[in-house]
Amino acid sequence: MKDLAHNYHTPKLAQQVALVTGGAGGLGTAICHALANEGASVIVGFNKSSEKARALSANLESVLETQHHAALAAPVTDSTALATLAETIKSRYGRLDILINCAGTTRFVAHPDLDGLDDALINDILATNVRGPFATARAFRLLLAQHGTGLIVNISSIAAASAVGSNVMYCASKAALDNMTKSLARALAPAIRVVSVSPGLVDTEFVKSLDIDWRHEQVARTPLSRLATPADVAQAVIAAATHFTFSTGAIFSVDGGRQL
Ligand SMILES: NC(=O)c1ccc[n+]([C@@H]2O[C@H](COP(=O)([O-])OP(=O)(O)OC[C@H]3O[C@@H](n4cnc5c(N)ncnc54)[C@H](OP(=O)(O)O)[C@@H]3O)[C@@H](O)[C@H]2O)c1
Repeated sequence: MKDLAHNYHTPKLAQQVALVTGGAGGLGTAICHALANEGASVIVGFNKSSEKARALSANLESVLETQHHAALAAPVTDSTALATLAETIKSRYGRLDILINCAGTTRFVAHPDLDGLDDALINDILATNVRGPFATARAFRLLLAQHGTGLIVNISSIAAASAVGSNVMYCASKAALDNMTKSLARALAPAIRVVSVSPGLVDTEFVKSLDIDWRHEQVARTPLSRLATPADVAQAVIAAATHFTFSTGAIFSVDGGRQL
C-alpha cells in the first residue's frame, strides 16, 4: 500500500472493481492509475505484455485498505479465455463494476494504398477493435449487471466520425465500435450503462516518436492548441463513471475541438 487516504480526497469508486483491457498500454496505464486513485480495485488486463501489466499492477496507488489490484490475462479475441477470466473475477472479487475496453490495434497504411491493407491486417483490426469489445461485454455482462449500476467504457476514436486515422479499416472499426456502444446501451439497460470515450491524437510515447513537423501540424489544427494527454482520456473515463451517471449510449470526444 503506497498512500493511505488523504482527508482532502474522497475516493469516488470505493469498493468498486474495474477491469481495463489493454491495461498496460499507453492509455490503459493512465486509466488504471486514475481508477486506482479513485479507490477502485483495478485488474490490468493484458494480452502479450504480462510483465509490464504485473509491474503496473504492483505500482498502482491504493488510497483505501479495500483495494486489491491484479494483472490478469484478458485476450479479447479469445472468448473461452474471457469466460475463464469472468469466473476468476467472480471467485476473487465477487463483483465487477466497470469494464474499460481499451485494447486496440492498428498499423499505418495510407488510405489510397488499398493493397497495403491486406486481409490479415483487416481481420486483426476487426477481431480486436470490434469483435473484442463485444466479446468482453458478452463475457462480463452478468457480473456487471449484478448491482444494477455497471458501466462499460469503449475507448474509441474521433476517427470513427472523421474517417481520418491510421488506415481505412481502423477508422471503420471505431465507427463500428461507436455504433455498438449505442446498441449495447439499449440492450444492456438499465443495469449497465455503455459509453464511448473518443480521443483525438494522444501524446503517447508512440506519437512522440512520430515526425515533429507532422505533430506540430496536428497541434495547429486543434482549437485548444495541444494534443490530448493520456491523463485527459483517463479523466474522461472517471467522469463517465462518477458524474455522467444518467448518460448511456453517449460518445464523449476528448479531442480539444479537433473536429470543429
Ligand atoms: N494513442 C492514440 O493517439 C489513440 C487515439 C485514439 C484512440 N486510441 C485508442 O486507445 C486505445 C489504446 O491505445 P494506446 O495508444 O494505448 O495503444 P497501445 O499502447 O498500443 O496499447 C494497445 C493495447 O491493446 C492491447 N491489445 C492488443 N491486442 C489485444 C488483444 N487481442 N487482446 C487484448 N489486448 C490487446 C495491448 O496489449 P498487450 O501489449 O498485452 O498485447 C496493449 O496494451 C486503442 O483502442 C486505440 O485505438 C488511441
